[in-house]
Amino acid sequence: MLQSVCGDAGSNLALYVYTGNLSPATRRFTLSALMALPLIGRANTPALAQNGPTLPLTLSCEEGHDVTLERQGGPYFRPNSPNRHGLYADAPGGERITVEGFIVDEHRRPVPDALIEIWHAAEHGNYDSNGFKLRGHQFTDADGRWWVKTIVPALYPGRTRHFHFRMQRQKGRVLTTQLFFPGEPAKATDWLFHETLVLKMEQTGDGYLGRFGFVV
Ligand SMILES: [Fe+2]
Repeated sequence: MLQSVCGDAGSNLALYVYTGNLSPATRRFTLSALMALPLIGRANTPALAQNGPTLPLTLSCEEGHDVTLERQGGPYFRPNSPNRHGLYADAPGGERITVEGFIVDEHRRPVPDALIEIWHAAEHGNYDSNGFKLRGHQFTDADGRWWVKTIVPALYPGRTRHFHFRMQRQKGRVLTTQLFFPGEPAKATDWLFHETLVLKMEQTGDGYLGRFGFVV
């Protein structure tokens, strides 16, 4: 069953929530509609319910339409990072944050089995250039979801606070980009900053929760 939750009934921008076991061809997820639901309450999300946060998502119906802007990977990317969702242990002194979202295509259909990699600076602003601390990759689940539990990266000279991401759908192009923290004064002098790449941030009982939907 598809339940419309927002949008303009007179256009093709109406949004729907997936409420049953539809075939992939008939699913019409939309980023905003899915993100309006508390993760713990979604059907068919046992892994996310166990490992993910429970706060409601805040993306509006107007977001998630355009292909995500690319940003350079910078000098600190390392291939062959471990497959994992949890990076807390790499920096136990850091401030915890869960970062999560969807990968959808330009028609706002979820992209399952997409490779997504994250790497970022540690709590003191350095990157691990010898090992794989605060680096990891994973594949989106059947509904296009990804999530990682990590720490808030420190600022380092010349940059506003950010995460690096690299993703690729099956047989698709590689998208390299960065996600930024809201409310950082350093964004004013960081030429890589862009308003469309800012995380939706909330504080939880276990650190922060940041959400972002990638459109590839
Ligand atoms: Fe960086």
